[in-house]
Amino acid sequence: MVEQNGTEPDGAEEFDGDWLDLREPFDAAARDPGLAERLMQHVDEKARPCFLDLGAGTGSLTRWLGHFVARPHRWILADADAELMSRAFDTMMDAAEDVGWKATWPQKKALLVHSPQGAWRIEGILTNLADAPAGLPLDSVDVVTCSALCDLVSERWLIRLAAALARRKLPFYAALNVSGRERFTPPLPGDALVARGFLRDQRRDKGFSGIALGPEAPAVIARVFAAHGYKVHRAPSPWIVRRQSREMAYELALGHAEAALRHERRGAAQIRAWAEARGGQADDGQLAVRVEHQDLLCLP
Ligand SMILES: C[S@@+](CC[C@H](N)C(=O)[O-])C[C@H]1O[C@@H](n2cnc3c(N)ncnc32)[C@H](O)[C@@H]1O
Repeated sequence: MVEQNGTEPDGAEEFDGDWLDLREPFDAAARDPGLAERLMQHVDEKARPCFLDLGAGTGSLTRWLGHFVARPHRWILADADAELMSRAFDTMMDAAEDVGWKATWPQKKALLVHSPQGAWRIEGILTNLADAPAGLPLDSVDVVTCSALCDLVSERWLIRLAAALARRKLPFYAALNVSGRERFTPPLPGDALVARGFLRDQRRDKGFSGIALGPEAPAVIARVFAAHGYKVHRAPSPWIVRRQSREMAYELALGHAEAALRHERRGAAQIRAWAEARGGQADDGQLAVRVEHQDLLCLP
């Protein structure tokens, strides 16, 4: 089921599976269905389209986008993290069971999820995407996707990927790219300091050949693919975290504070006080958060 490719992922950013699980329903509610439908129209003539998902994590995008395909199709999940990959397959089987679909492993090569509209065939490759497009099976897929990945990558990396996709006329669908605006409600005095530190952290090198795009990701994806003649569609996909979503609000506040602390040493005391106050608000069901993202669909 999982093939090992390329080099060991030195310097790859690590993500916690519990965090990816926690955010999955917020991701699903945030992604723009209009862009997903437009992508499906584009692959309409393919009898059994194959999607390559970069930085697939626990497979959250497959569980969302797969429903739009509505016919037999294939997924190749690519990630460097073996634990997340194995969790992706377990979660996929659980999700299938939850809706009464069978999941089978013929010849142990791929997971087959038997939806009423046809099987989803899912396999994985463990690969360091820092080397991409090297190690990616671009000649045997119809679409390249990713979700919450492009703010980690550098412009140089994206230029390389876009050139490889353009040569093969492959569409690129990139969901949930941060666009740099977050709002914690109610406001607190440390908000600006935390936002500044968080923004600096987003531009840190995340192991993809240079400083991460962070909130520049939507603009850079659009520019780089448009330069190859792609038509670029964009749609907002904000996380809307209401007060009753205590755990998500809490984790977001904590994550922002931790990221800000890496860069705002002199403001450390204020950031810690901010995190404590935000944690208390989250526990009391008094913290709401909105994080802006954009989805992009680049069609050749
Ligand atoms: C923010 S998570 C997104 C996961 C998933 N797409 C989702 O939306 O839930 C980023 C993913 O990129 C993967 N990743 C980060 N750096 C990587 C690298 N150099 N090579 C391969 N995967 C990498 C992480 O393991 C993680 O699964």
